[in-house]
Amino acid sequence: MSKMCGIIGYVGNKNANEIILKGIKRLEYRGYDSVGVAFVKDGKIIIKKDVGRIDEVHKKLNFLEPESNIGLAHTRWATHGSVTKGNAHPHLDCNEKIAIVHNGIIENYQEIKEFLKKRGHEFKSQTDSEVIAHLIEEFSRRVDFENACKKAFSMLQGSFAVLVINKDEEKIIGIRKDSPLVIGINENESFAASDIYALLPFTRNLIFLHNYDFVVLEKGKVRIENLIEGKVEREVERIDINVEETDKKDFHHYMIKEILEEADVFERALNQDELKVKKFIEEIKKAKKIFLVAAGTSYHACLAGSYLLAKAGIFTRPIIASEFNNFLNAIDEDTLIIAVSQSGETADVLEAIRKAKERKAKIFSIVNVYGSSLTRESDEFLLINAGFEISVAATKTYIAELAIFLLLHSKLTNKKINKEEIKAKILDLLSRSRREHIEKVAELLKDKQHVFLIGRGLEYVTALEAALKIKEISYIHAEAFPGGEIKHGTIALIEKDTPCIVFVGEEKEKILSNTEELKARGGFIIGVSEQNERIFDIWIKVPQDGEASLIYQIIPMQLLAYRLAVLRGFDPDKPRNLAKSVTVL
Ligand code: F6R
Repeated sequence: MSKMCGIIGYVGNKNANEIILKGIKRLEYRGYDSVGVAFVKDGKIIIKKDVGRIDEVHKKLNFLEPESNIGLAHTRWATHGSVTKGNAHPHLDCNEKIAIVHNGIIENYQEIKEFLKKRGHEFKSQTDSEVIAHLIEEFSRRVDFENACKKAFSMLQGSFAVLVINKDEEKIIGIRKDSPLVIGINENESFAASDIYALLPFTRNLIFLHNYDFVVLEKGKVRIENLIEGKVEREVERIDINVEETDKKDFHHYMIKEILEEADVFERALNQDELKVKKFIEEIKKAKKIFLVAAGTSYHACLAGSYLLAKAGIFTRPIIASEFNNFLNAIDEDTLIIAVSQSGETADVLEAIRKAKERKAKIFSIVNVYGSSLTRESDEFLLINAGFEISVAATKTYIAELAIFLLLHSKLTNKKINKEEIKAKILDLLSRSRREHIEKVAELLKDKQHVFLIGRGLEYVTALEAALKIKEISYIHAEAFPGGEIKHGTIALIEKDTPCIVFVGEEKEKILSNTEELKARGGFIIGVSEQNERIFDIWIKVPQDGEASLIYQIIPMQLLAYRLAVLRGFDPDKPRNLAKSVTVL
Protein backbone atom coordinates (compact mmCIF):
# COMPACT_ATOMS: atom_id res chain seq x y z
CA MET A 1 0.00 0.00 0.00
CA SER A 2 1.26 3.45 -0.65
CA LYS A 3 0.16 7.00 -0.28
CA MET A 4 -0.09 9.68 -2.83
CA CYS A 5 0.64 13.03 -4.37
CA GLY A 6 -0.97 16.40 -5.02
CA ILE A 7 -1.59 18.03 -8.39
CA ILE A 8 -2.80 21.44 -9.56
CA GLY A 9 -3.32 23.20 -12.90
CA TYR A 10 -4.26 26.73 -13.91
CA VAL A 11 -5.18 28.47 -17.15
CA GLY A 12 -6.37 32.06 -17.10
CA ASN A 13 -5.50 35.68 -17.47
CA LYS A 14 -3.52 35.90 -14.23
CA ASN A 15 0.01 34.84 -13.31
CA ALA A 16 -0.15 31.03 -13.36
CA ASN A 17 3.22 30.70 -11.61
CA GLU A 18 2.06 32.49 -8.47
CA ILE A 19 -1.24 30.63 -8.38
CA ILE A 20 0.14 27.16 -8.81
CA LEU A 21 3.00 27.78 -6.40
CA LYS A 22 0.57 28.89 -3.69
CA GLY A 23 -1.80 26.04 -4.57
CA ILE A 24 0.81 23.29 -4.60
CA LYS A 25 2.10 24.42 -1.20
CA ARG A 26 -1.39 23.83 0.12
CA LEU A 27 -1.17 20.29 -1.24
CA GLU A 28 2.25 19.55 0.22
CA TYR A 29 0.68 17.57 3.05
CA ARG A 30 -0.27 14.94 0.45
CA GLY A 31 3.36 14.15 -0.40
CA TYR A 32 6.65 15.95 -0.03
CA ASP A 33 9.59 14.04 -1.35
CA SER A 34 9.90 15.96 -4.64
CA VAL A 35 8.13 18.71 -6.55
CA GLY A 36 7.88 20.08 -10.07
CA VAL A 37 6.12 22.58 -12.33
CA ALA A 38 5.47 22.90 -16.06
CA PHE A 39 4.63 26.13 -17.89
CA VAL A 40 4.09 27.02 -21.50
CA LYS A 41 6.23 29.97 -22.62
CA ASP A 42 6.75 31.17 -26.20
CA GLY A 43 5.52 27.90 -27.67
CA LYS A 44 7.77 25.75 -25.46
CA ILE A 45 7.18 23.68 -22.36
CA ILE A 46 9.43 24.67 -19.48
CA ILE A 47 9.87 22.08 -16.71
CA LYS A 48 11.43 22.74 -13.31
CA LYS A 49 11.60 19.88 -10.85
CA ASP A 50 13.78 18.33 -8.17
CA VAL A 51 13.90 16.32 -4.98
CA GLY A 52 13.05 18.18 -1.75
CA ARG A 53 10.38 20.25 -0.07
CA ILE A 54 8.59 22.87 -2.17
CA ASP A 55 10.30 25.88 -0.55
CA GLU A 56 13.77 24.38 -0.96
CA VAL A 57 13.26 23.49 -4.62
CA HIS A 58 11.60 26.83 -5.40
CA LYS A 59 14.56 28.65 -3.82
CA LYS A 60 16.92 26.72 -6.07
CA LEU A 61 14.95 26.79 -9.32
CA ASN A 62 12.59 29.78 -8.98
CA PHE A 63 9.14 28.57 -9.99
CA LEU A 64 8.00 32.16 -10.55
CA GLU A 65 9.93 32.45 -13.81
CA PRO A 66 9.31 32.51 -16.71
CA GLU A 67 5.91 34.06 -16.13
CA SER A 68 3.07 32.28 -17.88
CA ASN A 69 -0.68 32.02 -17.73
CA ILE A 70 -0.90 28.26 -18.05
CA GLY A 71 0.82 25.70 -15.89
CA LEU A 72 0.79 22.50 -13.86
CA ALA A 73 2.44 21.47 -10.60
CA HIS A 74 2.94 18.26 -8.69
CA THR A 75 4.13 17.33 -5.21
CA ARG A 76 5.22 13.72 -4.97
CA TRP A 77 5.02 10.83 -2.57
CA ALA A 78 7.00 8.10 -4.30
CA THR A 79 5.28 4.85 -5.23
CA HIS A 80 6.86 3.58 -8.45
CA GLY A 81 10.48 4.65 -8.82
CA SER A 82 12.74 6.02 -6.11
CA VAL A 83 12.96 9.64 -5.03
CA THR A 84 15.04 11.22 -7.81
CA LYS A 85 14.82 14.32 -9.95
CA GLY A 86 14.07 12.17 -13.01
CA ASN A 87 11.16 10.49 -11.29
CA ALA A 88 9.68 13.80 -10.11
CA HIS A 89 6.73 15.10 -12.13
CA PRO A 90 5.85 16.68 -14.56
CA HIS A 91 6.79 14.15 -17.24
CA LEU A 92 7.25 14.91 -20.93
CA ASP A 93 6.75 13.00 -24.16
CA CYS A 94 9.74 12.36 -26.49
CA ASN A 95 9.27 15.64 -28.39
CA GLU A 96 8.68 17.77 -25.30
CA LYS A 97 5.32 18.90 -26.67
CA ILE A 98 3.20 17.40 -23.90
CA ALA A 99 3.60 17.57 -20.10
CA ILE A 100 1.59 15.60 -17.58
CA VAL A 101 1.15 15.36 -13.82
CA HIS A 102 -0.45 12.32 -12.25
CA ASN A 103 -1.76 11.24 -8.86
CA GLY A 104 -2.50 7.54 -8.46
CA ILE A 105 -1.07 4.33 -9.85
CA ILE A 106 -1.21 3.05 -13.42
CA GLU A 107 -1.49 -0.68 -12.87
CA ASN A 108 -0.90 -1.69 -16.50
CA TYR A 109 2.03 0.68 -17.11
CA GLN A 110 4.52 -2.11 -17.83
CA GLU A 111 2.39 -3.40 -20.66
CA ILE A 112 1.87 0.11 -22.07
CA LYS A 113 5.57 0.87 -21.72
CA GLU A 114 6.55 -2.25 -23.69
CA PHE A 115 4.07 -1.34 -26.41
CA LEU A 116 5.40 2.22 -26.59
CA LYS A 117 9.06 1.15 -26.54
CA LYS A 118 8.42 -1.02 -29.58
CA ARG A 119 7.07 2.07 -31.29
CA GLY A 120 10.27 3.95 -30.59
CA HIS A 121 9.43 5.91 -27.42
CA GLU A 122 12.25 6.59 -25.02
CA PHE A 123 11.61 6.81 -21.30
CA LYS A 124 13.53 8.98 -18.88
CA SER A 125 12.07 7.82 -15.56
CA GLN A 126 11.14 4.64 -13.69
CA THR A 127 7.66 5.94 -12.96
CA ASP A 128 4.35 4.46 -14.02
CA SER A 129 3.17 8.00 -14.83
CA GLU A 130 5.53 8.76 -17.71
CA VAL A 131 3.67 6.32 -19.97
CA ILE A 132 0.72 8.73 -20.02
CA ALA A 133 2.70 11.48 -21.79
CA HIS A 134 4.08 9.04 -24.37
CA LEU A 135 0.72 7.40 -24.94
CA ILE A 136 -0.85 10.77 -25.71
CA GLU A 137 2.07 11.52 -28.03
CA GLU A 138 1.53 8.21 -29.77
CA PHE A 139 -2.16 8.90 -30.42
CA SER A 140 -1.45 12.54 -31.38
CA ARG A 141 0.15 11.19 -34.56
CA ARG A 142 -3.33 10.29 -35.77
CA VAL A 143 -5.87 12.48 -33.97
CA ASP A 144 -6.05 15.92 -32.35
CA PHE A 145 -4.83 16.60 -28.79
CA GLU A 146 -8.22 16.17 -27.11
CA ASN A 147 -8.95 12.89 -28.84
CA ALA A 148 -5.41 11.65 -28.24
CA CYS A 149 -5.91 12.27 -24.51
CA LYS A 150 -9.25 10.45 -24.59
CA LYS A 151 -7.73 7.44 -26.31
CA ALA A 152 -4.79 7.38 -23.95
CA PHE A 153 -6.94 7.70 -20.82
CA SER A 154 -9.19 4.89 -22.02
CA MET A 155 -6.22 2.53 -21.95
CA LEU A 156 -5.21 3.27 -18.36
CA GLN A 157 -6.00 0.86 -15.53
CA GLY A 158 -5.64 1.65 -11.85
CA SER A 159 -6.27 4.95 -10.13
CA PHE A 160 -5.51 8.27 -11.67
CA ALA A 161 -6.09 11.99 -11.61
CA VAL A 162 -4.17 13.39 -14.56
CA LEU A 163 -3.63 16.90 -15.93
CA VAL A 164 -2.06 17.48 -19.33
CA ILE A 165 -0.79 20.52 -21.20
CA ASN A 166 0.39 20.85 -24.76
CA LYS A 167 2.81 23.51 -25.98
CA ASP A 168 0.53 24.63 -28.80
CA GLU A 169 -2.84 24.99 -27.07
CA GLU A 170 -4.02 27.18 -24.24
CA LYS A 171 -5.92 24.44 -22.47
CA ILE A 172 -5.52 21.85 -19.75
CA ILE A 173 -7.00 18.41 -20.22
CA GLY A 174 -7.78 16.22 -17.24
CA ILE A 175 -9.36 12.98 -16.09
CA ARG A 176 -10.08 11.29 -12.80
CA LYS A 177 -10.67 7.71 -11.81
CA ASP A 178 -10.48 6.71 -8.13
CA SER A 179 -8.10 9.61 -7.35
CA PRO A 180 -9.60 12.97 -6.49
CA LEU A 181 -9.79 15.95 -8.86
CA VAL A 182 -11.78 19.12 -8.26
CA ILE A 183 -12.38 21.86 -10.82
CA GLY A 184 -12.60 25.57 -10.01
CA ILE A 185 -13.96 28.25 -12.26
CA ASN A 186 -13.97 32.07 -12.34
CA GLU A 187 -14.51 34.56 -15.13
CA ASN A 188 -11.46 34.12 -17.41
CA GLU A 189 -9.85 31.49 -15.17
CA SER A 190 -10.06 27.73 -14.74
CA PHE A 191 -8.37 25.53 -12.16
CA ALA A 192 -8.02 21.85 -11.31
CA ALA A 193 -6.53 20.37 -8.14
CA SER A 194 -6.45 17.31 -5.92
CA ASP A 195 -8.61 18.99 -3.30
CA ILE A 196 -10.57 22.14 -2.62
CA TYR A 197 -8.06 23.33 -0.04
CA ALA A 198 -5.65 24.17 -2.89
CA LEU A 199 -8.33 26.12 -4.74
CA LEU A 200 -10.09 28.05 -1.99
CA PRO A 201 -7.72 31.05 -2.01
CA PHE A 202 -8.65 31.60 -5.67
CA THR A 203 -12.22 30.49 -6.26
CA ARG A 204 -15.36 29.29 -4.49
CA ASN A 205 -17.05 27.90 -7.61
CA LEU A 206 -16.24 24.23 -7.64
CA ILE A 207 -17.14 21.16 -9.63
CA PHE A 208 -16.54 17.73 -8.10
CA LEU A 209 -15.67 15.31 -10.88
CA HIS A 210 -16.94 11.75 -11.04
CA ASN A 211 -14.96 8.71 -12.14
CA TYR A 212 -14.06 8.86 -15.85
CA ASP A 213 -15.04 12.52 -16.16
CA PHE A 214 -12.90 13.94 -18.95
CA VAL A 215 -12.43 17.65 -18.61
CA VAL A 216 -11.15 20.40 -20.89
CA LEU A 217 -10.22 23.65 -19.17
CA GLU A 218 -9.81 26.91 -21.04
CA LYS A 219 -9.78 30.45 -19.60
CA GLY A 220 -13.04 30.61 -17.65
CA LYS A 221 -14.52 27.70 -19.62
CA VAL A 222 -14.94 24.10 -18.55
CA ARG A 223 -16.24 21.25 -20.69
CA ILE A 224 -16.91 17.87 -19.13
CA GLU A 225 -17.82 14.60 -20.72
CA ASN A 226 -17.80 11.17 -19.15
CA LEU A 227 -15.79 8.56 -21.01
CA ILE A 228 -18.35 5.87 -20.11
CA GLU A 229 -21.67 7.75 -19.95
CA GLY A 230 -21.01 10.37 -22.66
CA LYS A 231 -22.53 13.84 -22.18
CA VAL A 232 -23.06 14.78 -18.54
CA GLU A 233 -24.01 17.89 -16.59
CA ARG A 234 -21.99 18.59 -13.47
CA GLU A 235 -23.24 21.16 -11.04
CA VAL A 236 -21.07 24.14 -10.05
CA GLU A 237 -21.20 24.22 -6.24
CA ARG A 238 -20.48 27.36 -4.29
CA ILE A 239 -18.43 26.52 -1.21
CA ASP A 240 -18.22 29.15 1.49
CA ILE A 241 -15.41 28.29 3.86
CA ASN A 242 -13.29 30.83 5.63
CA VAL A 243 -9.78 30.56 4.12
CA GLU A 244 -8.35 32.33 7.18
CA GLU A 245 -9.34 29.34 9.25
CA THR A 246 -7.09 27.17 7.12
CA ASP A 247 -3.92 29.25 7.58
CA LYS A 248 -1.20 28.35 10.06
CA LYS A 249 -1.22 31.88 11.53
CA ASP A 250 1.41 32.27 14.27
CA PHE A 251 1.60 28.62 15.21
CA HIS A 252 4.84 26.76 14.58
CA HIS A 253 2.96 23.80 13.17
CA TYR A 254 -0.50 22.93 11.90
CA MET A 255 -0.60 20.01 14.33
CA ILE A 256 -0.63 22.18 17.44
CA LYS A 257 -3.04 24.67 15.84
CA GLU A 258 -5.39 21.81 15.05
CA ILE A 259 -5.15 20.27 18.54
CA LEU A 260 -5.95 23.65 20.07
CA GLU A 261 -9.15 23.84 17.99
CA GLU A 262 -10.54 20.67 19.58
CA ALA A 263 -13.11 22.23 21.92
CA ASP A 264 -14.88 23.95 19.01
CA VAL A 265 -14.41 20.94 16.78
CA PHE A 266 -16.14 18.73 19.35
CA GLU A 267 -19.10 21.10 19.53
CA ARG A 268 -19.39 21.44 15.75
CA ALA A 269 -19.32 17.67 15.27
CA LEU A 270 -22.31 17.30 17.57
CA ASN A 271 -24.33 19.87 15.61
CA GLN A 272 -25.95 17.42 13.24
CA ASP A 273 -29.14 17.40 11.26
CA GLU A 274 -31.56 15.50 13.52
CA LEU A 275 -33.15 13.69 10.59
CA LYS A 276 -29.85 12.36 9.30
CA VAL A 277 -28.87 11.10 12.75
CA LYS A 278 -32.29 9.47 13.03
CA LYS A 279 -31.66 7.61 9.77
CA PHE A 280 -28.36 6.32 11.15
CA ILE A 281 -30.05 5.14 14.32
CA GLU A 282 -32.91 3.45 12.44
CA GLU A 283 -30.47 1.67 10.17
CA ILE A 284 -28.29 0.59 13.11
CA LYS A 285 -31.34 -0.87 14.83
CA LYS A 286 -32.57 -2.58 11.68
CA ALA A 287 -29.35 -4.11 10.35
CA LYS A 288 -28.62 -7.74 11.09
CA LYS A 289 -24.85 -7.25 10.77
CA ILE A 290 -22.87 -4.06 11.20
CA PHE A 291 -19.26 -3.54 10.12
CA LEU A 292 -17.33 -0.42 11.09
CA VAL A 293 -14.71 0.08 8.40
CA ALA A 294 -11.74 2.49 8.34
CA ALA A 295 -7.95 2.81 8.41
CA GLY A 296 -5.42 4.26 10.85
CA THR A 297 -6.76 6.78 13.32
CA SER A 298 -10.25 6.54 11.83
CA TYR A 299 -10.10 2.81 12.55
CA HIS A 300 -9.39 3.64 16.19
CA ALA A 301 -12.53 5.80 16.14
CA CYS A 302 -14.39 2.74 14.82
CA LEU A 303 -12.97 0.60 17.58
CA ALA A 304 -14.16 3.16 20.13
CA GLY A 305 -17.50 3.13 18.29
CA SER A 306 -17.74 -0.64 18.66
CA TYR A 307 -17.27 -0.38 22.44
CA LEU A 308 -19.80 2.46 22.66
CA LEU A 309 -22.42 0.68 20.55
CA ALA A 310 -21.85 -2.52 22.53
CA LYS A 311 -22.60 -0.54 25.69
CA ALA A 312 -25.87 0.38 23.98
CA GLY A 313 -26.56 -3.30 23.28
CA ILE A 314 -25.56 -3.28 19.60
CA PHE A 315 -22.94 -5.70 18.33
CA THR A 316 -20.68 -4.42 15.54
CA ARG A 317 -17.51 -5.71 13.94
CA PRO A 318 -14.84 -3.01 13.59
CA ILE A 319 -12.50 -3.90 10.77
CA ILE A 320 -9.40 -2.40 9.19
CA ALA A 321 -10.42 -1.51 5.64
CA SER A 322 -7.57 -3.39 3.94
CA GLU A 323 -8.71 -6.59 5.69
CA PHE A 324 -12.34 -6.22 4.71
CA ASN A 325 -12.00 -8.40 1.62
CA ASN A 326 -11.72 -11.48 3.85
CA PHE A 327 -15.21 -10.87 5.18
CA LEU A 328 -17.02 -10.38 1.88
CA ASN A 329 -18.84 -13.70 2.04
CA ALA A 330 -20.51 -12.49 5.22
CA ILE A 331 -21.93 -9.36 3.54
CA ASP A 332 -25.50 -9.26 2.26
CA GLU A 333 -28.51 -6.95 1.94
CA ASP A 334 -29.10 -7.01 5.68
CA THR A 335 -25.61 -5.65 6.36
CA LEU A 336 -24.85 -2.08 7.28
CA ILE A 337 -21.36 -0.71 6.67
CA ILE A 338 -20.41 2.36 8.65
CA ALA A 339 -17.29 3.71 6.96
CA VAL A 340 -15.26 6.37 8.73
CA SER A 341 -12.71 8.57 7.00
CA GLN A 342 -11.30 12.04 7.43
CA SER A 343 -10.39 12.44 3.77
CA GLY A 344 -13.14 10.31 2.27
CA GLU A 345 -10.51 9.23 -0.26
CA THR A 346 -8.68 6.39 1.47
CA ALA A 347 -8.42 3.75 -1.24
CA ASP A 348 -8.77 0.76 1.11
CA VAL A 349 -11.98 2.20 2.53
CA LEU A 350 -13.40 2.98 -0.91
CA GLU A 351 -12.58 -0.49 -2.17
CA ALA A 352 -14.29 -2.03 0.86
CA ILE A 353 -17.50 -0.04 0.44
CA ARG A 354 -17.62 -0.67 -3.30
CA LYS A 355 -17.37 -4.42 -2.77
CA ALA A 356 -19.95 -4.30 0.02
CA LYS A 357 -22.25 -2.33 -2.26
CA GLU A 358 -22.00 -5.03 -4.93
CA ARG A 359 -23.35 -7.39 -2.27
CA LYS A 360 -26.23 -5.00 -1.61
CA ALA A 361 -25.08 -3.80 1.81
CA LYS A 362 -26.13 -0.30 2.91
CA ILE A 363 -23.27 2.18 3.13
CA PHE A 364 -23.44 4.91 5.76
CA SER A 365 -20.37 7.00 6.37
CA ILE A 366 -18.80 9.48 8.73
CA VAL A 367 -16.54 11.85 6.81
CA ASN A 368 -14.74 15.17 7.10
CA VAL A 369 -14.25 16.20 3.48
CA TYR A 370 -17.43 17.20 1.71
CA GLY A 371 -17.50 16.21 -1.95
CA SER A 372 -15.04 13.37 -1.38
CA SER A 373 -15.58 10.00 -3.04
CA LEU A 374 -16.92 8.50 0.17
CA THR A 375 -19.65 11.15 0.52
CA ARG A 376 -20.67 10.58 -3.07
CA GLU A 377 -20.70 6.80 -2.93
CA SER A 378 -22.52 6.36 0.40
CA ASP A 379 -26.26 5.93 0.86
CA GLU A 380 -26.08 8.41 3.74
CA PHE A 381 -23.30 10.34 5.38
CA LEU A 382 -22.69 12.54 8.39
CA LEU A 383 -20.06 15.25 8.07
CA ILE A 384 -17.87 15.61 11.12
CA ASN A 385 -17.33 19.32 10.33
CA ALA A 386 -13.83 19.46 11.78
CA GLY A 387 -12.56 21.91 9.14
CA PHE A 388 -9.40 21.32 7.17
CA GLU A 389 -6.82 19.12 8.80
CA ILE A 390 -3.44 19.83 7.25
CA SER A 391 -1.08 18.10 9.63
CA VAL A 392 -0.51 14.56 8.42
CA ALA A 393 -1.26 13.14 11.87
CA ALA A 394 -4.99 13.13 12.54
CA THR A 395 -5.85 14.89 15.81
CA LYS A 396 -8.93 17.11 15.74
CA THR A 397 -10.66 14.83 13.26
CA TYR A 398 -10.24 11.92 15.70
CA ILE A 399 -12.01 14.01 18.34
CA ALA A 400 -14.79 14.81 15.85
CA GLU A 401 -15.18 11.17 14.81
CA LEU A 402 -15.40 10.17 18.47
CA ALA A 403 -18.01 12.89 18.99
CA ILE A 404 -20.21 11.30 16.30
CA PHE A 405 -19.98 7.88 17.95
CA LEU A 406 -20.76 9.50 21.31
CA LEU A 407 -23.79 11.09 19.67
CA LEU A 408 -24.99 7.75 18.27
CA HIS A 409 -24.42 6.15 21.68
CA SER A 410 -26.40 8.90 23.41
CA LYS A 411 -29.33 8.52 20.97
CA LEU A 412 -29.37 4.76 21.47
CA THR A 413 -29.22 4.98 25.27
CA ASN A 414 -31.18 8.22 25.82
CA LYS A 415 -28.23 9.45 27.82
CA LYS A 416 -27.68 13.16 27.24
CA ILE A 417 -24.28 14.58 26.29
CA ASN A 418 -23.39 17.59 28.37
CA LYS A 419 -21.81 19.55 25.54
CA GLU A 420 -20.86 22.64 27.53
CA GLU A 421 -19.24 20.69 30.33
CA ILE A 422 -17.21 18.55 27.95
CA LYS A 423 -16.14 21.60 25.99
CA ALA A 424 -14.97 23.35 29.17
CA LYS A 425 -12.98 20.29 30.19
CA ILE A 426 -11.33 20.08 26.75
CA LEU A 427 -10.35 23.74 27.03
CA ASP A 428 -8.84 23.10 30.43
CA LEU A 429 -6.83 20.14 29.09
CA LEU A 430 -5.46 22.45 26.42
CA SER A 431 -4.58 25.28 28.80
CA ARG A 432 -1.04 26.60 29.06
CA SER A 433 -0.32 25.02 32.46
CA ARG A 434 -1.48 21.61 31.23
CA ARG A 435 0.68 21.93 28.14
CA GLU A 436 3.69 22.89 30.24
CA HIS A 437 3.26 19.78 32.31
CA ILE A 438 3.17 17.66 29.15
CA GLU A 439 6.35 19.38 27.98
CA LYS A 440 8.05 18.16 31.16
CA VAL A 441 6.84 14.61 30.54
CA ALA A 442 8.17 14.83 26.98
CA GLU A 443 11.60 15.89 28.27
CA LEU A 444 11.73 12.66 30.29
CA LEU A 445 10.74 10.49 27.33
CA LYS A 446 12.52 12.15 24.45
CA ASP A 447 15.57 9.86 24.42
CA LYS A 448 13.72 6.61 25.01
CA GLN A 449 13.51 3.97 22.31
CA HIS A 450 10.35 2.21 23.42
CA VAL A 451 7.11 3.13 25.16
CA PHE A 452 4.40 0.69 26.19
CA LEU A 453 0.82 1.80 26.73
CA ILE A 454 -2.01 -0.07 28.44
CA GLY A 455 -5.68 0.50 29.06
CA ARG A 456 -8.86 -1.54 29.40
CA GLY A 457 -12.08 -1.01 27.45
CA LEU A 458 -12.32 2.51 26.03
CA GLU A 459 -8.89 3.24 27.53
CA TYR A 460 -7.41 0.44 25.44
CA VAL A 461 -8.59 2.29 22.33
CA THR A 462 -6.95 5.45 23.67
CA ALA A 463 -3.72 3.52 24.24
CA LEU A 464 -3.75 2.36 20.60
CA GLU A 465 -4.34 5.85 19.23
CA ALA A 466 -1.76 7.40 21.56
CA ALA A 467 0.82 4.81 20.43
CA LEU A 468 0.09 5.58 16.77
CA LYS A 469 0.55 9.32 17.36
CA ILE A 470 3.85 8.81 19.20
CA LYS A 471 5.20 6.42 16.55
CA GLU A 472 4.25 8.33 13.46
CA ILE A 473 5.64 11.74 14.38
CA SER A 474 8.35 11.18 17.00
CA TYR A 475 9.57 7.81 15.61
CA ILE A 476 9.76 6.33 19.11
CA HIS A 477 8.55 2.75 19.09
CA ALA A 478 5.26 2.67 20.98
CA GLU A 479 3.01 -0.35 21.49
CA ALA A 480 -0.39 -0.54 23.08
CA PHE A 481 -2.05 -3.49 24.81
CA PRO A 482 -5.23 -4.24 26.66
CA GLY A 483 -4.18 -4.11 30.33
CA GLY A 484 -4.95 -7.79 30.80
CA GLU A 485 -3.01 -8.90 27.75
CA ILE A 486 0.51 -7.57 28.27
CA LYS A 487 1.34 -10.35 30.74
CA HIS A 488 0.70 -12.89 27.96
CA GLY A 489 4.05 -12.22 26.36
CA THR A 490 5.09 -8.62 25.90
CA ILE A 491 5.85 -8.09 29.58
CA ALA A 492 9.12 -9.86 28.76
CA LEU A 493 10.27 -6.58 27.21
CA ILE A 494 9.76 -4.49 30.34
CA GLU A 495 13.01 -3.73 32.11
CA LYS A 496 14.32 -1.05 34.43
CA ASP A 497 12.99 2.39 33.42
CA THR A 498 10.97 1.22 30.40
CA PRO A 499 8.31 3.92 30.04
CA CYS A 500 4.78 2.56 30.51
CA ILE A 501 1.79 4.85 30.01
CA VAL A 502 -1.25 3.61 31.88
CA PHE A 503 -4.76 4.90 31.20
CA VAL A 504 -7.03 4.47 34.19
CA GLY A 505 -10.75 4.29 33.55
CA GLU A 506 -13.81 2.48 34.83
CA GLU A 507 -11.94 -0.76 35.56
CA LYS A 508 -9.62 1.05 37.93
CA GLU A 509 -8.69 -1.80 40.27
CA LYS A 510 -7.88 -4.14 37.41
CA ILE A 511 -5.73 -1.70 35.46
CA LEU A 512 -3.84 -0.73 38.62
CA SER A 513 -3.11 -4.36 39.27
CA ASN A 514 -1.83 -4.69 35.66
CA THR A 515 0.31 -1.63 36.41
CA GLU A 516 1.78 -3.37 39.46
CA GLU A 517 2.93 -6.13 37.12
CA LEU A 518 4.80 -3.59 35.00
CA LYS A 519 6.20 -1.76 37.98
CA ALA A 520 7.50 -5.01 39.47
CA ARG A 521 9.65 -5.45 36.30
CA GLY A 522 11.10 -1.95 36.64
CA GLY A 523 8.58 -0.07 34.45
CA PHE A 524 8.59 3.72 34.75
CA ILE A 525 4.90 4.46 35.18
CA ILE A 526 3.14 7.47 33.67
CA GLY A 527 -0.44 7.44 34.87
CA VAL A 528 -3.23 9.18 32.95
CA SER A 529 -6.12 9.35 35.38
CA GLU A 530 -8.38 11.45 37.53
CA GLN A 531 -6.54 10.67 40.75
CA ASN A 532 -2.88 10.32 41.54
CA GLU A 533 -1.84 6.83 42.62
CA ARG A 534 1.13 5.70 44.70
CA ILE A 535 2.34 3.51 41.87
CA PHE A 536 2.74 6.40 39.37
CA ASP A 537 6.14 7.92 38.75
CA ILE A 538 4.45 10.77 36.89
CA TRP A 539 0.81 11.72 36.83
CA ILE A 540 -1.14 13.31 33.99
CA LYS A 541 -4.41 14.47 35.44
CA VAL A 542 -7.54 14.05 33.28
CA PRO A 543 -11.21 14.09 34.22
CA GLN A 544 -12.96 10.71 34.56
CA ASP A 545 -16.40 10.89 33.04
CA GLY A 546 -17.64 7.67 31.45
CA GLU A 547 -17.64 7.69 27.68
CA ALA A 548 -16.34 11.28 27.39
CA SER A 549 -13.05 10.05 28.90
CA LEU A 550 -12.23 8.86 25.39
CA ILE A 551 -11.80 12.51 24.53
CA TYR A 552 -10.11 13.66 27.74
CA GLN A 553 -7.45 10.98 27.76
CA ILE A 554 -6.28 11.30 24.17
CA ILE A 555 -5.74 15.07 24.26
CA PRO A 556 -2.63 15.02 26.53
CA MET A 557 -1.28 12.18 24.39
CA GLN A 558 -1.65 14.20 21.19
CA LEU A 559 0.19 17.04 22.95
CA LEU A 560 2.85 14.61 24.16
CA ALA A 561 3.43 13.16 20.67
CA TYR A 562 3.67 16.69 19.27
CA ARG A 563 6.17 17.77 21.89
CA LEU A 564 8.27 14.61 21.45
CA ALA A 565 8.53 15.24 17.71
CA VAL A 566 9.60 18.84 18.26
CA LEU A 567 12.14 17.96 20.96
CA ARG A 568 13.65 15.24 18.76
CA GLY A 569 13.97 17.73 15.88
CA PHE A 570 11.29 16.36 13.56
CA ASP A 571 8.59 18.23 11.66
CA PRO A 572 5.35 16.92 13.19
CA ASP A 573 3.30 18.13 10.22
CA LYS A 574 5.25 16.10 7.70
CA PRO A 575 6.47 12.83 9.17
CA ARG A 576 8.90 10.78 7.10
CA ASN A 577 7.47 8.18 4.69
CA LEU A 578 3.92 9.40 5.23
CA ALA A 579 1.36 11.53 3.46
CA LYS A 580 -2.13 12.37 4.47
CA SER A 581 -4.30 10.97 1.72
CA VAL A 582 -3.87 7.31 0.97
CA THR A 583 -5.40 7.22 -2.47
CA VAL A 584 -4.06 3.91 -3.73
CA LEU A 585 -4.36 0.39 -2.40
C1 F6R B 1 -2.78 8.87 11.56
C2 F6R B 1 -3.44 9.13 10.30
C3 F6R B 1 -3.77 7.98 9.42
C4 F6R B 1 -5.20 8.13 8.89
C5 F6R B 1 -5.51 7.01 7.88
C6 F6R B 1 -6.95 7.07 7.42
O1 F6R B 1 -2.53 10.05 12.26
O2 F6R B 1 -3.72 10.25 9.96
O3 F6R B 1 -3.62 6.78 10.09
O4 F6R B 1 -6.08 8.09 9.97
O5 F6R B 1 -4.64 7.11 6.80
O6 F6R B 1 -7.23 8.26 6.78
P1 F6R B 1 -8.72 8.75 6.55
O7 F6R B 1 -9.31 9.02 7.87
O8 F6R B 1 -8.58 9.99 5.70
O9 F6R B 1 -9.44 7.65 5.83
